[in-house]
Formats: sequence, C-alpha cells, structure tokens
Amino acid sequence: MNKAKMFRQMLASGDLEFLMEAHNGLSARIVEQTGFKGIWASGLSISAAMGVRDNNEASWTQVLEVCEFISDATTIPVLLDGDTGYGNFNNVRRLVQKLEQREIAAVCIEDKLFPKTNSFIKGEKQPLAEIDEFVGKIKAAKDQQRSDDFSVVARLEAFIAGWGMDEALRRAEAYYNAGADALLVHSKLTRPDQILAFAKEWQNKCPLIIVPTTYYSTPIESFEKAGISVVVWANHNVRSCITAMTATCKQIFNERSLCTVEDQIAPVKEVFRLQNAGELLDAELRYLPVRTEPARAIVLAAVQGEPFHELTREKPKSMINVGGRPLLHRMVSLFRQEDIKDVTVIRGFGKEHVHADNVEFVDNDDFEITGEVFTLDKAYRMLDGEMVIAYGDIVFRKYILQMLLDAPEEIAIAVDSSWRQRPSFNGMEDFVTVTSAATQNSVEKKHWLKQMNPGLDQESIHGEWIGLLHATATGTQAIKMAIDQLRDLPEFSKLQMFDLFNHLVKSGVAVAVHYIVGHWLDVDNLTDLAAAERLNF
Ligand code: SPV
Ligand code: MG
Repeated sequence: MNKAKMFRQMLASGDLEFLMEAHNGLSARIVEQTGFKGIWASGLSISAAMGVRDNNEASWTQVLEVCEFISDATTIPVLLDGDTGYGNFNNVRRLVQKLEQREIAAVCIEDKLFPKTNSFIKGEKQPLAEIDEFVGKIKAAKDQQRSDDFSVVARLEAFIAGWGMDEALRRAEAYYNAGADALLVHSKLTRPDQILAFAKEWQNKCPLIIVPTTYYSTPIESFEKAGISVVVWANHNVRSCITAMTATCKQIFNERSLCTVEDQIAPVKEVFRLQNAGELLDAELRYLPVRTEPARAIVLAAVQGEPFHELTREKPKSMINVGGRPLLHRMVSLFRQEDIKDVTVIRGFGKEHVHADNVEFVDNDDFEITGEVFTLDKAYRMLDGEMVIAYGDIVFRKYILQMLLDAPEEIAIAVDSSWRQRPSFNGMEDFVTVTSAATQNSVEKKHWLKQMNPGLDQESIHGEWIGLLHATATGTQAIKMAIDQLRDLPEFSKLQMFDLFNHLVKSGVAVAVHYIVGHWLDVDNLTDLAAAERLNF
C-alpha cells in the first residue's frame, strides 16, 4: 500500500493514532523500528538539527531534501510540517508536486505569514493569514495533488495567536470547506482545555490532529474520549539528542577519555545496522566482480653461492649487483609491477647484508647444513592463497612472471627448453622430465612435470626449471600439505625443491610446465653474471 493511503487510513481508523517526530533519515528509521505507524517531519526539529531557527531560515528545498532522506529511509507515511507553505498559493502548489514525487504522504500548512515564527515564541504577537488567502492555498494544494490519497492538513493557529473559540471555529469551517482533509488545532496552554473544547464544538466534521507539547501531562484517554484522530509527539527526538549529545560531550571533554562513555552509547555496529550496511554487503556479492587477493611471493635467498668466491664472500647471491642493482631489488620491483606487494625473503648467509624496502624477512640460520625445503618451511605461515615462489639468485624477463601469474593450473612452473645453450652447468640444475598431452585444440600440447632432478641423464632432460613457480590458493594448499608430509622424514632438513616437486607429482598433484626459451639466468657463476649484465635484464 502506498504511504499516502496508509496515512489516510490512520486519519480514518477511529482509533487514536500517533505520529513521532523525525528530523533526518536516521531518526526516521528509529521511529519506524520502534513501531510507530507514521512520522511527523517537524519544522522545529529539522531546523534545529540544521543549526538554524524555526523561522524559515532553511530554504524549502533544503527541507525537501531532508524529507527525501526521511522517506527513503522508511516505509511508513510522513506528514511534513510545511509551515505556511513557503510563500503564496503558487509556492504551495510546487511544494505539493515535489512532496508527492518523494512519496511524502501529507503536508500540514499553518495559517500564519511567511516567514513564520515557532508557535511557542511570542505567540500572541503573531499575525494570522487572511482567511481567504489561506483558503486559496488549501484549494491550490488540493487541486495540485495527483494522487487522491495525498492529504492536506490545515493548521489552526488562532489559539496560539490569542484568539478565542469563535475565530478558531470560523477558520476551521472555511478550511474544511476548502477541502482540507484534517485540521491540526494547536494550543500552547499547559492544560488541554482549548483543544478539548474545540473538539467538542467541531463534532468530528473531519479528523482532528493535536500537538500536546505543553499539555503533555494530559492522559491520552482524554484525547480518545474527545474523538481526536492523531496525536503528534512533535519534537522529542531532537530534544533527546540534545540531552544525550550534551552529556556525552561533557563526559568526553572532562575525562579526556572514551572509557566511561563507550558503554553508555550506541555501539558502532548499531550505527551500521541502522544504515542497513548488511544489505550493501549482500549486494556486493551479487553485483561486484569477484576480486581475488593479489598473489604473495616468497624468495629463497639463504645460500651463499660457493662458486662466486670474491663476490659472495660476505654478500649472498641475491644481493649481487647486476647492472647496478642487487638481484633481489630487481625481483621485488618486478613483483610490485605485477601487484605482488606482500613479499617474504628468507635469508641465511650474510643476512645482515640482505635488505629491500617493504619486504618481510625470515631467517634460516642453519643455511649451511639445510636444504631449500627447510628454508621454505621457515616461511610456512606465509604460505596462504595465491603464491609465487622464487629462487633469490635468478633474473628473468617480466613476461615469464606474467605468464605464470596467468596460468590457470594449481601449480605452474617456468621451464627453459633451451637448457643446452646455457653458458655453464654446475651440477645443481633442476632438470625436468615432462609428460605431454594434446589439448582440445590439438595444435597445442600441455606439459606436466613427471620428475625433476639435477642428476637426470641427458635423454630424459626436457628442460630446466628456472626457479620460479606459481600456485593458486589450492596449489598453495597442496604445497603446504607436501611440506607437512615431508617434515616427518629424517632427511627433511636436507631436501631440495626438486624433492618437493617429486613428492607433489607422486602424490598426484599436477604441476604444469610452461616452456620458455632463454630470457632468464641464474647467477651461479661469473659467466652467468657477465651474461646477465650483457642481457640487461
Ligand atoms: C513543529 O514541530 O515544528 C511544530 C509544532 O510546528 S510546534 O513546534 O509546537 O509549533
Ligand atoms: Mg513547525
């Protein structure tokens, strides 16, 4: 049911109904969640919340904007306190048009002059509108409304301005005849006498709305008996805000701490709940593309690199300059270019010389007597999600890393098919044998690791692993599981990466081989170093 219809039903229900004040989306939502059936968008409260006076200092479009937030935040009808209509009949027409567009159920206009003053400030001095002029406004509003359900409430300020019953009734009659759907009869007395007397005279010709701000002690049964339709609790949310905010401010100011106040105020979670933050999280799942976490990297950089003698007497291989930059820095900057920001480097030999910006270091102080898997195990807790694992002494072209990052397989390794052309061998090369299978488009073949071993005989060598692997989150899990299983072996501390691969393959984990032809080097001897500098990686 639309909100205007709901308001109409409140007017006609025959029961005493209540409207609770709201002055913004948040207070409106609280009003609805408390159980109220309707909202009074109070001029006093909205202006107060804006820090201005209830004298039309806020423009009508500013009030309209607040109404829009109130309406959007709620599903119950809103009666806007439209003051005098912000001008003459023409301004009222425009107001009604805009309110209906925002699903505001009803507007209340009062028979005073623009700019108005709040009824509780020097009421008697306030001039009333000419009856004819105000009747014109009501007619204009009723003619303007597009939906039959929208209501126009005419507010009688006769008692406020010091007039008696006759004037109030004369005006009530005129406004009712002009088409007003209900009358709001206001009084500033501390007793309900004027209101109750008026209700008696009026005899329910149309619904009556009252605002018992000053005669608040009257039991509501009196209003029920008098046949009042709607009671407006007009400003009690903005006033409770003032009390609560003042107390909180004072407390925090005096105590220079949040400790006491924390348990006395709504938790941040409650703010999120009122903002309906949960709905957005659900919507994000439905509408946002799924973004995976960027890959993280682990660099194995613990060993000394014997053959270097002079160059690696103090520095580990990863810190040797190639073209003026340490290998490690080249690698880290390559990673960063591919959005791999989380990089862990496992140091061992010469660890005090190993440095790089924004990198986490883990140490293998037993680097002399342990192998690569033991080193990798030092960063076991970093093994999580998509990973790149690299030897610390290699240089490679960027496309090789990109190719592996794009690889869909759970574990993918880059293998050089031109291994025979490498400048030199030292017996530590990770040679691989692969099994190849035709893919669906039979032109290409897929290659899978069968075994990896430095000691393979020439005929079995199908390439050399360059020391760079990529694992999806599932692949990383498989690597962790392999490490867990290998850890029980007595020779665990001596195991190398090829042992890990062979274990993975034996366990049925498919390791995809992506072939490259050159474009990488490991800096394992001076010849490689010279080549690396020449190739300008
Ligand atoms: C308001 O809430 O802004 C009203 C009611 O108009 S009163 O303040 O009592 O005039
Ligand atoms: Mg008002």
